[in-house]
Amino acid sequence: MLVNATEMLLKARDGHYGVPQFNINNLEWTKSILQACEEMKSPVILGVSEGAGKYMTGYKTVAAMVKAMVEEMGITVPVALHLDHGSYEGCKACVEAGFSSIMFDGSHYPIEENVAKTKELVALAHANGMSIEAEVGSIGGVEDGVVGSGEIADPEECAKIAALGVDFLAAGIGNIHGVYPENWKGLDFAARGRGHKATNNIPLVLHGGTGIPDEMIAKAISLGVSKININTECQLVFAEATRKYIEAGKDQQGKGFDPRKLLAPGAKAISAKCVEKINLFGCAGKG
Ligand code: 13P
Repeated sequence: MLVNATEMLLKARDGHYGVPQFNINNLEWTKSILQACEEMKSPVILGVSEGAGKYMTGYKTVAAMVKAMVEEMGITVPVALHLDHGSYEGCKACVEAGFSSIMFDGSHYPIEENVAKTKELVALAHANGMSIEAEVGSIGGVEDGVVGSGEIADPEECAKIAALGVDFLAAGIGNIHGVYPENWKGLDFAARGRGHKATNNIPLVLHGGTGIPDEMIAKAISLGVSKININTECQLVFAEATRKYIEAGKDQQGKGFDPRKLLAPGAKAISAKCVEKINLFGCAGKG
């Protein structure tokens, strides 16, 4: 059974640790992540971008697959299925499809429009027992073709959106999606402090977790970040392990071309990356 992400994130906030959102792209991704989280007894949020949802043929497929995998793999830790950077229409579709959590990313709208749409979706999510994340101040980098510039969220805007009853909030502090450029200035912790004060202690979300130095992650958690999103890092280790397998000619030895063999090193690499992040975020044994 899927759960919404509210309780796991309130516990994380109060217990001063982070819960990972690992983005999923296909069955192997989902299986590798669930295996690692079960082994580490960590709660987990499975993030699905609109592009990944489309790739997997639609939200209904994703919800059915994840629910069945949780059951058939005997997963006992809390698992939330969460739309990542959802549009207004995408959020509605995921409520219908049986997700347990949504993110409405209205950060590209003028603040009043972001407020109006977020407010409507908070009511819809809560009426369906789901949790909802909102965003203020765009996250930089490129996520599924959407380019953001790494804005620092305005505390007043954070307060306006938090007051709508969202369960957790993504507020940009210079974080960006994808690999960080050489000249990245790092996270703006003063902005994090201001944002935290303005939002009445609701759990905060750190997007763009790939490549943020460990000590910055630890500091962000100490300043109220309860959810950390990781996507690119799992893609990189999967690609690297798969490349090594093929470059070593293993796909041409025996039945090495069998997808169950061909994809195994990449899947193992994803699980190992998840274990590494769970240890870093302090959420082992919390599920
Ligand atoms: P990365 O791809 O940088 O890990 O970011 C993931 C993310 O924030 C998804 O919303």
